[in-house]
Amino acid sequence: MRAETKFAAEPLASPALGEPYLLTPGPLTTAYSVKQAMLRDWGSWDGDFRSMTSDMRRRLLALTGDTKDEFDCVPMQGSGSFCVEAMLGSFVPREGKVLVLANGAYGLRAAQTMQYLGRAYTLIDKGDYLPPRGDEVAAALDADPAITHVIAIHCETSSGILNPVAEIAEAVHAKGRKLLVDSMSAFGAVALDVNEIRYEAMVSSANKCIEGVPGFGFIIARKSELEAAKGRSHSLSLDVHAQWAHMNKTGQWRYTPPTHVVAAFLEALRQHEAEGGVTGRGARYTRNRDVMVAGMRDLGFETLLGDRWLSPIIVTFFNPAHANFAFDRFYELMKDKGFIIYPGKLTAVDSFRVGCIGQMDEHVMRRVVEAAAFSLHEMGVDTAAPPAAALAERAKLAA
Ligand SMILES: Cc1ncc(COP(=O)(O)O)c(C=O)c1O
Repeated sequence: MRAETKFAAEPLASPALGEPYLLTPGPLTTAYSVKQAMLRDWGSWDGDFRSMTSDMRRRLLALTGDTKDEFDCVPMQGSGSFCVEAMLGSFVPREGKVLVLANGAYGLRAAQTMQYLGRAYTLIDKGDYLPPRGDEVAAALDADPAITHVIAIHCETSSGILNPVAEIAEAVHAKGRKLLVDSMSAFGAVALDVNEIRYEAMVSSANKCIEGVPGFGFIIARKSELEAAKGRSHSLSLDVHAQWAHMNKTGQWRYTPPTHVVAAFLEALRQHEAEGGVTGRGARYTRNRDVMVAGMRDLGFETLLGDRWLSPIIVTFFNPAHANFAFDRFYELMKDKGFIIYPGKLTAVDSFRVGCIGQMDEHVMRRVVEAAAFSLHEMGVDTAAPPAAALAERAKLAA
């Protein structure tokens, strides 16, 4: 058993500042130059900051492959959930109805947001293990002509599942409905090209795969949808149309913008481009995942999901069944070694998550596996195998 592995104890910390690596789905480990970009103050209505905002919008739009100028990008203050709420409240008419596709916490949060908005919705809930598929979306749309919109979660970050958005988009388009995508944790590393996947609007945030710091998100939507959103929002500050119209007219954000966060994000976008854009970023994260998952499986850990649905964003592992294993202690031992992992967010079984995104590469991921091996050893856990019941449930539900 690998728990005997000798742990090489040179400093296991981010080379930038001696901080631990954040193996989390954001906020994540950022580059030193991204942090450094925040060391200057900007006037929110000054021309320099206005050009930064427009440069950022242009760069984000370019990531969608929108060569026909059909889309626009609207940054919005707040965390990702604010932007999901802004998108739903602005694009779904008050008399509209949304089909929410859920297979984890963020799909369920979209449903909860609809409840708060007081607008009609219906839910397909696939639990933790399975993606919503195109044929079931088509059937649900056939069964309920009142549905006007569908919301899909691109990467359901609570389990790490990469949902088949292309297949869902095809079904939604074929049935003449509109697709909204929560691509919070995927955009920038997993393609969401408007020429390949039909959607009306998507949302993501600064502190995910572009590797900025938290403080705002952005909505990328068809201009026709942005026009149609006028007067629909339930909220003054989350009105996407109003933010868009104001920004296009004045170059400014409607209310106080997170100036330093925008400066950091622009630097992150430059680095994203230098790495080869969505393809380059996605390749590094995929390699991170492959190296980390192979190493963890060698230690006896089991992933919640089969390889087919594993995203390059974050991976869920079952907690080991061994009586000496306690997640809180494992967390502290990993942190002592320079790695902050993430608790699980599943409804049924005990689990934890390891993120693959942020400023780290496969060499760091090898050290993560060494740290896990050594931490198990320190806890007196000689096998990381999960409880048989968890595996049986996985086999049953994923069949
Ligand atoms: C898919 C998805 N949607 C929504 C959110 C909510 O974003 P926030 O926590 O920034 O509000 C997250 C956060 O990780 C996410 O991964």
